[in-house]
Amino acid sequence: MFGIYPRNEELAIYVDQAEALMSQKTKDCYARTAQDYEKVGLCGTDWLAYRDLPELIRVFSKGETAIDFGCGSGKSTRLLKEVGLTVTGLDISASQLTLAISADPSGDYRLIDEGSQKLPLTDVAIVVSVFVFMEFGNKEAMVDAAQAIRNSLAKDGVFIMVVTTREFYSGDWLTLNTKFPENDQVISGGRVKAEFTDLEFSLTDYFWTHEDYVRVLEHAGFNHIVRHLPLGETGDGLPWKDETSTAPFAVYIAFK
Ligand SMILES: C[S@@+](CC[C@H](N)C(=O)[O-])C[C@H]1O[C@@H](n2cnc3c(N)ncnc32)[C@H](O)[C@@H]1O
Repeated sequence: MFGIYPRNEELAIYVDQAEALMSQKTKDCYARTAQDYEKVGLCGTDWLAYRDLPELIRVFSKGETAIDFGCGSGKSTRLLKEVGLTVTGLDISASQLTLAISADPSGDYRLIDEGSQKLPLTDVAIVVSVFVFMEFGNKEAMVDAAQAIRNSLAKDGVFIMVVTTREFYSGDWLTLNTKFPENDQVISGGRVKAEFTDLEFSLTDYFWTHEDYVRVLEHAGFNHIVRHLPLGETGDGLPWKDETSTAPFAVYIAFK
């Protein structure tokens, strides 16, 4: 499910291509891909946040150099490497980077300052950021980060950002529990909580609306924004719950 903000006919052609690739993939052999993802520690509901990235990158990226902004322990970085990108993982947490390097000793992982106005690479084809912008407590910091990301991109570069949706905090999911008092009233900038039931840990983030994310990307100077809402498919080989009718995550593709 895709949306384009604002509507743009040229981008609509690319979106059609991405949709065609995805439906082809589902028909082909999805189960094998699911196993591939398990290698980098992705399974269950969170897998939906990453599942369509290879096709989106194939359609929208104009090159092979990439930054994984907020790479954490490197799950997303290793996935991007498997897709064929030359990736540098950036994070503000030294302990997360230590985990990333121990899982991928030959990888390029670098520590950056929180609020960095300038990233250590320029002219990159694509910046990917999975589950990072929900950690920002205010919109100004999000705009600053999005601007630094935009400045690091080549002229025709794209930024792919994955975050949770509003519906995530009220759904019934295969491996994520969101039934917490924090989620009773989900408001822009409010605190929200989710628990990985398979991994037995929970985390608290900030909630930002779809309009907040679009405004942040526009204020950072991105021209057009596409939103993709990945839904669980029967071919995924997982016993999805609400994932087949409601998207827990949103993928924003922003064009410099
Ligand atoms: C939930 S983890 C996601 C890690 C990884 N992207 C993945 O998909 O597994 C979020 C990461 O964002 C990092 N982060 C938070 N704020 C950041 C910022 N301003 N700049 C760079 N990284 C940041 C955190 O340190 C954390 O490692």
